[in-house]
Amino acid sequence: MTTETEIDDPTESRLASGKPSTGGVDKSRLRVRRMFSSIARRYDLLNHLLSLNIDRSWRRYTTRAVPPVPGEPILDCCTGTADLALEYDRAGQGRSPIVGADFCREMLVHGRAKIEAGRASDRVVLIEGDAERLPVPSDAFAVVCVAFGLRNVQDTVRGIDELIRAAQPGGTVAILEFSRPRGRILGRIYLAFFRHVLPRIGQALAPNADSAYDYLPRSVLQFPDGQEMLDLLGSRGLIELHQQPLTAGIATLYVGRKPGAQARKP
Ligand SMILES: C[S@@+](CC[C@H](N)C(=O)[O-])C[C@H]1O[C@@H](n2cnc3c(N)ncnc32)[C@H](O)[C@@H]1O
Repeated sequence: MTTETEIDDPTESRLASGKPSTGGVDKSRLRVRRMFSSIARRYDLLNHLLSLNIDRSWRRYTTRAVPPVPGEPILDCCTGTADLALEYDRAGQGRSPIVGADFCREMLVHGRAKIEAGRASDRVVLIEGDAERLPVPSDAFAVVCVAFGLRNVQDTVRGIDELIRAAQPGGTVAILEFSRPRGRILGRIYLAFFRHVLPRIGQALAPNADSAYDYLPRSVLQFPDGQEMLDLLGSRGLIELHQQPLTAGIATLYVGRKPGAQARKP
């Protein structure tokens, strides 16, 4: 995939000084947590509505590309309302214990309700914790995943290091994140929708004081994607890296392995 961005990049240098900058987007813990608290009740509805339900297929794709290893634990970081954790539970037919971690209690409340409704409480456990210092042991999880979460973590490098720390040697780290579609026409249409239409719909359906749906495009546009993201993950020690753009590159799945042992077969 090309590393060239064919659409306007409003952030000039997302990787100034070799470390992803927040590009002027306020990602302080307080702000991010408060923002997700205020939209938690409507989060699932808006996710599915604004993506025309395609977000479900992205998570499903993730569980197929990086399948659970039966009996081996999975960590879903920034789990929010637990959609990816529950998708992994389905993919593994309940044979793998799953921990979902998030620092926003309100999001977890909705996640727990879904876990209970799906009678998965004995297999999927949600814990409160910051992605920059996850309250989980090192080298513990066969799969460590994060969907649409890493972008929100104030210190991206620290967030990546924590994902790697939690993974077993030989374990897999899977990062699903929004990216910028390549291609002039689609890129421009997408950018216009993302910047001007989506924030209005979001604010109308989930009114909040933190402009959560302005933050969404701003945080996506400043975040490294494509080869830039692979390079970053490689620089933190992941190996066998690859990426899979999804839905014309609106989202991308990045996958890498923690060195130290052979990958375990599902
Ligand atoms: C866009 S939501 C994604 C939720 C879920 N993974 C999904 O696929 O729908 C981002 C989540 O990341 C969480 N989050 C952001 N920064 C975090 C941090 N530093 N530590 C823990 N959770 C964080 C937010 O609370 C929110 O629930």
